[in-house]
Amino acid sequence: MRARRSCLAVPGSNPRFLEKAQGLGADEVFLDLEDSVAPGAKEEARRNVVAALREGDWTGKTVVVRVNDLTTQWTYRDVVEVVEGAGDRLDCLMLPKVRDASHVVWLDTLLGQIERAVGLPEGGIGVEAQIEDARGLVEIDGIARSSPRLETLVFGPADFMASIGMRTLVVGEQPPGYDEGDAYHYILMRILMAARAYGLQAVDGPYLQIRDLDGFRRSARRSAALGFDGKWVLHPSQVEAANEVFSPSQEDYDHAELILDAYEYYTTVEKRGAVMLGDEMIDEASRKMALVVAARGRAAGLARTSAFTPPA
Ligand code: GLV
Ligand code: MG
Repeated sequence: MRARRSCLAVPGSNPRFLEKAQGLGADEVFLDLEDSVAPGAKEEARRNVVAALREGDWTGKTVVVRVNDLTTQWTYRDVVEVVEGAGDRLDCLMLPKVRDASHVVWLDTLLGQIERAVGLPEGGIGVEAQIEDARGLVEIDGIARSSPRLETLVFGPADFMASIGMRTLVVGEQPPGYDEGDAYHYILMRILMAARAYGLQAVDGPYLQIRDLDGFRRSARRSAALGFDGKWVLHPSQVEAANEVFSPSQEDYDHAELILDAYEYYTTVEKRGAVMLGDEMIDEASRKMALVVAARGRAAGLARTSAFTPPA
């Protein structure tokens, strides 16, 4: 799985941002041809994006381009120009406003044709699908199993809130009047279930109040707590916060590694399945939970600060 704790949106129409993004510590960068680019600037943005992919240094990042959605006149040319021009520099295309599996199948087929035509490895370019309206959410299981290229389901809160008529203009915050619980809980959980059922990553969308870092962290912590892999970031200040929130804490990471070592020792040396680790009972399911946290910690570059010592 590619790293996607922080997924930085960069408007394709802004060469200065395309340059600057290369030096930031985001796990993923997506060069946008869709809603951050004005209709009159779409074609120039394509050229900027291809040039930035060809000439830029994107080492260490998951590199993605977001094309326009399938109701527009731009999508097919976005795909053709970007993949023909810089397909060898690209990890994934992001398809916005996916409403059913046929959208992803269309992109899969077109990508296959271009890969064959230009000699790229077939199936090499992955797909990220944005779930941005009620229809996409209702069809999400079909979308999640629509193509082996699919890597990630991405929540698009702004479009989604518009689609369902949620009564707020503040993206990512709770709508006024909804005083209990989290108005996004069902949507986030539904996306997460479909993603995990089909072995995909789940990524939360943007928090638009870019000066409110506490608000960003609050919103990020909610989806991270559920199990999401990462969140969009719109500003350099959000990058570090996302990387931190979507990595396990040092304490949790150490604890996960300890569970793995202890479980290994007790099941193999002592041949016992359910054992006590301090005050905690651990068994095979504990091992599975620890594996998730340990994998995320290792991917985030954490190092252990404690070790398991077998009983004397
Ligand atoms: C992102 O695309 C959103 O609509 O929130
Ligand atoms: Mg959107």
